[in-house]
Amino acid sequence: MENRHKQNIVLIGFMGSGKTTISNTLKEKYRMEVIDMDSEIELREGRKISEIFASDGEEYFRNLETELLRELQKKENLVISCGGGTPLREQNVAEMRRNGDVFLLSAAPATIYERVKDSHDRPILEGNKSVSFIEELLEKRRGKYEEAADFVIETDGKTAEEICEEIIQIRKD
Ligand code: S3P
Repeated sequence: MENRHKQNIVLIGFMGSGKTTISNTLKEKYRMEVIDMDSEIELREGRKISEIFASDGEEYFRNLETELLRELQKKENLVISCGGGTPLREQNVAEMRRNGDVFLLSAAPATIYERVKDSHDRPILEGNKSVSFIEELLEKRRGKYEEAADFVIETDGKTAEEICEEIIQIRKD
């Protein structure tokens, strides 16, 4: 199916909210070009996010996110899958808005826990993998996520296909 909407789709949400899965489904089903910010930063830096955090710190990583969001404004009809912390910076929210429609993927802490519990590539969750930690951090971030979003998509109990259809439908309205 062709999508004639020109602005980029920006996906935001907590770690494990489904940004990568949804962007991959948008790529397969709707043939959209996808940039996963975490992967793109890892590729450019030639090292894992955990190494970037450990050697240069979170602030350095956040600066890379800001630069990438600026650069992607030159592109059209792209799906940009942000890192879970990208909308925490006010400047990043402004850059996202210039990119396109911002969709917040939301999920319950227990759902997030199930999705992240076996992975080790998120420095912020290492040693902190519990529903209560996730719930607390999510509560701290919720305001920023909601302020950044043009649209909120609940993901609990839905398939990736259903979520993508919702996004595409909103873009057509
Ligand atoms: C982060 C989320 C991660 C990654 C980094 C920091 C965060 O992205 O950008 O580990 O602060 O929430 P995902 O949401 O893709 O896991």
